[in-house]
Amino acid sequence: MSWTRRDFVAAGIAAGSLARAGANDRIRVGIIGNGGRSRDHIAELTRIPGVEIAAVADPDDTLTMEKSAAIDKLTGHAPSRQRDLRRILDDKNIDAVTIACCNHWHALAAIWALQAGKHVYVEKPVCHDLFSGMQMVAASRRYGRMAQGGTQRRSNEYIRRAFRALRDGVIGDVYMARCIHFQDRPSLGFRQPQAPPSTLDWDLWLGPARQQEYHANLHPYNWHWFWDFGNGELGNNGVHFIDLARWGLNRRWPSKITSTGGRFGYHDQGQTPNTQLTTYQFEDGVQLVVEIRNRYTNREQDLSSGVIFYGSKGYMISEHDRGCYEVYLEGSKTPGPVYSAADDPERIDDRKSTGAHFRNFFSAVRSGNRESLNADIEETFLSTGYCLLGNIAFRRGHEIRVDPATGNITGDAEAARMARDVCRKPFTVPDRV
Ligand SMILES: NC(=O)c1ccc[n+]([C@@H]2O[C@H](COP(=O)([O-])OP(=O)(O)OC[C@H]3O[C@@H](n4cnc5c(N)ncnc54)[C@H](O)[C@@H]3O)[C@@H](O)[C@H]2O)c1
Repeated sequence: MSWTRRDFVAAGIAAGSLARAGANDRIRVGIIGNGGRSRDHIAELTRIPGVEIAAVADPDDTLTMEKSAAIDKLTGHAPSRQRDLRRILDDKNIDAVTIACCNHWHALAAIWALQAGKHVYVEKPVCHDLFSGMQMVAASRRYGRMAQGGTQRRSNEYIRRAFRALRDGVIGDVYMARCIHFQDRPSLGFRQPQAPPSTLDWDLWLGPARQQEYHANLHPYNWHWFWDFGNGELGNNGVHFIDLARWGLNRRWPSKITSTGGRFGYHDQGQTPNTQLTTYQFEDGVQLVVEIRNRYTNREQDLSSGVIFYGSKGYMISEHDRGCYEVYLEGSKTPGPVYSAADDPERIDDRKSTGAHFRNFFSAVRSGNRESLNADIEETFLSTGYCLLGNIAFRRGHEIRVDPATGNITGDAEAARMARDVCRKPFTVPDRV
């Protein structure tokens, strides 16, 4: 679909106007992408008063059937089932979409939805290349719709309190943040190209990606480990912890990035590294370090996934399983201040953060106040951008440099070219949104 200026006028979408739903209006939602993560979208959306799942879309008919039956069971009302997300965008009665499809579709689906006047909640990583992400942020501004990224820990109050303390100097001058995500992932083996299942519209699934044959290691889920569709573990789970580190450090773009690693321990069809060490350096020398391990490994101080901040007086470590951040000062082995979800009024720990994040999104849709979004699209775009830059540095095999004011790659034409995907027509990201 390509929306023209005339379509916007016909749909009554004035650029810059902020459409909002009244406090008592029903908000009708379409879920784009009906795989694993959509289960959480369904579970959480069906709990929010005044929100109705009116449509679901996926190029895989078996999944739309399955998810529509699940919604019917929960609510007594089956949503409309679509193969093509554009049918949801054409429906003037749909107010918002939540996007949980494969990464290579995220930004284009979000841009089309914003152009069609819908509010957008889009899963992390919110884009597959830097250009489409910038265009998505621009579209959210131009069409005055709410756009929230799926980095749900931004809706945890205890993390907000911990980071306030971090900025108030609880560990002194912070000079480094270290993100880790350790999760064993077995070999994918090799799957031969074959005809796609008759229930799957393969051309639509590919969308903007390069034309190629279907094989069973792509759909569902394992597309994450192929460059045309996914962003490896750095862009999968790494983005959550990069987002926290960037929030805690209160930074936008870095200036230098290096990334090393490989796909170790087996030979399989996957392309992205299963072991990756990426360093982002800011102009003042502060560092953000991300370590991904998808093979057998130890934990670090009982942590397998999270973020640690290091300062001149001590360190602060996340304990996401227990829902708290602990501070250890001056070499002490017993924690100093602890910021825990158990002390928050609503006790939103990590297991409950997706629900809180959706509630925050719909409350902003009702109020029309973008400032109230906990993860406005630009924030999740910046964090996604770190993953994209890390992977470009990894694939280039050397340090890349970035203009910290803009996020644009400098001094390496090939790396700069990699910041924009070549999209297959007609699934192109517009130059002007
Ligand atoms: N925020 C979180 O904690 C969290 C957790 C899990 C997954 N996710 C994100 O959710 C997204 C989906 O992950 P998943 O595990 O469900 O993967 P999945 O492969 O199970 O589901 C993706 C679905 O998108 C569908 N799809 C492809 N093209 C589409 C299109 N044009 N329109 C509609 N649907 C299309 C696929 O057919 C598939 O069913 C990913 O981006 C992932 O990073 C976020």
